[in-house]
Amino acid sequence: MGKITIAIDGFSSTGKSTIAKQLSKALNYIYVDTGAMYRAVALYALNYDLVDDVKLKTDDLVNALSKVNIKFVPNNQTGKSDMFLNGKNVEQEIRTMRVSRQVSKIATIKEVREKLVAIQQKMGTEKGIVMDGRDIGTVVFPDAELKIFMTASPEARANRRYKELLDRGDKVTFDEVLKNVQERDYIDSNRKESPLKKADGAIEIDNSDMGLKEQLERIHNYALRLIKSH
Ligand code: DC
Repeated sequence: MGKITIAIDGFSSTGKSTIAKQLSKALNYIYVDTGAMYRAVALYALNYDLVDDVKLKTDDLVNALSKVNIKFVPNNQTGKSDMFLNGKNVEQEIRTMRVSRQVSKIATIKEVREKLVAIQQKMGTEKGIVMDGRDIGTVVFPDAELKIFMTASPEARANRRYKELLDRGDKVTFDEVLKNVQERDYIDSNRKESPLKKADGAIEIDNSDMGLKEQLERIHNYALRLIKSH
């Protein structure tokens, strides 16, 4: 039985990473959350004042990119990986609204994407990987054996995100979260570089009204079928 590559793309807060994480566990595959990588670059830009509300200082950020060192470090306590930015654990910080507000803009920059895509492709050379993001099936691994495209209504997604943020103690309103989800959808889908779109051959799953167990079962079955034939 051979190993395959699994690409999971879709809109923000569709539960992609939850599914991808559980699937990788069930298959004993590596899991990579590429959104965390874009978030880490956005945090770097914020920390070094390379973004402001009006204009993103693109050239300054591009020039600083060689100094942005990101890596995933396994966390024995949680059993997951934490994102480290230049040696510091930023796993919590990259999930805040402060970073969410900037990250889509950062992800439109060609040089940022090239840097991160190269790292992602290197991580997948041995297959046996589940990677989630926006361009995994279209750009990072266009030859992935299994491609999933996850969607859900903006309201359903904002609701999930709102609950997560409240649990974490972030003081946000539902309307602010909904607006952020819609803005990110727009920027992610309309940017020039690798816009979010369903990849050729991807299976679309709308999970507005679908539970986690059902989604996982479906995707796991697709994966097992493909693994058997490899
Ligand atoms: O999945 P997420 O919400 O953590 O992603 C954060 C942002 O990064 C999102 O606005 C889109 C961008 N992103 C991207 O452009 N390409 C990826 N492969 C992953 C994320």
